[in-house]
Amino acid sequence: MANVIIIGAQWGDEGKGKIVDLLTDQFDIVARYQGGHNAGHTVMINGQQFILHLIPSGILRGNRMCIIGTGVVIDPKALLEEVRMLEEANIKVRGNLFISNRAHLILPYHRAQEQASENARGSKKIGTTARGIGPAYEDKMARRGLRMTDLLDPKALKKIIFGITEEKKRLIASVNGSSLLDPNQIYSEYVSYGEQLREFIVDTAFLLNEKIQNGSRVLFEGAQGTLLDIDHGTYPYVTSSNSMAGGACVGTGVAPSWITGTIGIAKAYTTRVGGGPFPTELSGSIGEKLRQQGAEFGASTGRPRRCGWFDGPATSYSVILNNLQAIVITKLDVLDEFEEIQICTGYSYRGNRLNEFPAEIKVLESVKPIYKSIPGWTCSTAGIRNYDELPSKAKDYLQMLSDITKTEFSFISTGPDREHTILMADSWINKVIYSNNHK
Ligand code: GDP
Ligand code: IMO
Ligand code: MG
Repeated sequence: MANVIIIGAQWGDEGKGKIVDLLTDQFDIVARYQGGHNAGHTVMINGQQFILHLIPSGILRGNRMCIIGTGVVIDPKALLEEVRMLEEANIKVRGNLFISNRAHLILPYHRAQEQASENARGSKKIGTTARGIGPAYEDKMARRGLRMTDLLDPKALKKIIFGITEEKKRLIASVNGSSLLDPNQIYSEYVSYGEQLREFIVDTAFLLNEKIQNGSRVLFEGAQGTLLDIDHGTYPYVTSSNSMAGGACVGTGVAPSWITGTIGIAKAYTTRVGGGPFPTELSGSIGEKLRQQGAEFGASTGRPRRCGWFDGPATSYSVILNNLQAIVITKLDVLDEFEEIQICTGYSYRGNRLNEFPAEIKVLESVKPIYKSIPGWTCSTAGIRNYDELPSKAKDYLQMLSDITKTEFSFISTGPDREHTILMADSWINKVIYSNNHK
């Protein structure tokens, strides 16, 4: 048995898509468990780039079962567009993709609600992806959401949509009367989605458990990052789901006792998109250099990502919350041209070193990072596939990241392509995933 969860150990965009794609050949099934099309997972295969939002990155292998689990919120229009994009690239989706009949739906009014709520926050806006993710989860928790299964019964769907739009009109006066709350229009659009998606919709919890019991190996693909987790992230500057490893069980219906371990993905530095505290953020020319070298622009929204040095306390907090067996360090090559590199080893607040990752946003906004400065290696690591070929200063840097987070690094990524990866011989990933491979 090897059922492994992949999570982002920072604020998202760590390179989860690349690593999930890489590891997929060692697994039978890849399952998404939370989030929605707010995610943007980039996979580069022999120079060809794919950006996936809802469908697990494992789909690109062409012969793996891919599950969109119960914990995901689905915009059917975005999903159908993604299916079309993949099919146009000759990637087999039908027969490989299965979507939970219990997953909740995003409706047009969710986007309008989100826009209204972001506008109302003014300078304190979250800076969401504007995909309707938060309001869809709100409705799920308020027990007035629509689920995939509702799409399959036109009569029941009509009744639910007419009921819910009445309730919404009372709740959101600002969009009252607009086409976003026209039940006839919503019904005709969504009933057609049901017809198009019917073949994918199943009880994925049942399917996954049956497969696991029969020896299939599952890779769980997290979206967002642990610091964006609704419960444990930098609230309220978070997403509206549990992106940490614990979310994988809830979001798929697979019990914790089936899970072998969790791998965290972390960049060799840190990025964040949207609002919220970011202690190691670099607003000047160094931040700009990181953004340019790392092509740090959102895969979903195209927004420039905020960039900063590696944040030890934030990543260590992720290590604890996810009990990481291994870290994958990505984008090492982005630091190739820096003569000096800093690592944040702790936070100081009002003159005292903090022992915990602070819950209060005001505190996190005013902590001072304690930096350790190291000389850069100033030569290219791009595309290196063998640890021995790395410059010794890059090895020292990686060792420092491992010491600070108290976790081994298993893979080191030196470029966007599948092939640009170093697998550490003695690592957890090699021992548990590759060596136990019976495929
Ligand atoms: P995800 O959301 O965690 O899957 O990450 P994204 O796809 O949003 O962002 C990661 C970006 O970094 C993508 O453009 C990847 O192609 C790219 N990438 C991943 N690993 C590396 C690496 O080791 N080096 C470089 N230069 N780019 C990488
Ligand atoms: P992947 O899976 C980076 C951020 C948004 C915003 C906050 C809430 O590619 O790592 P939401 O639309 O989810 O309600 O926005 O979360 N965010 C991400 N940041 N990568 C992502 O996904 C993100 N998904 C959401 O920028 O700050
Ligand atoms: Mg991304």
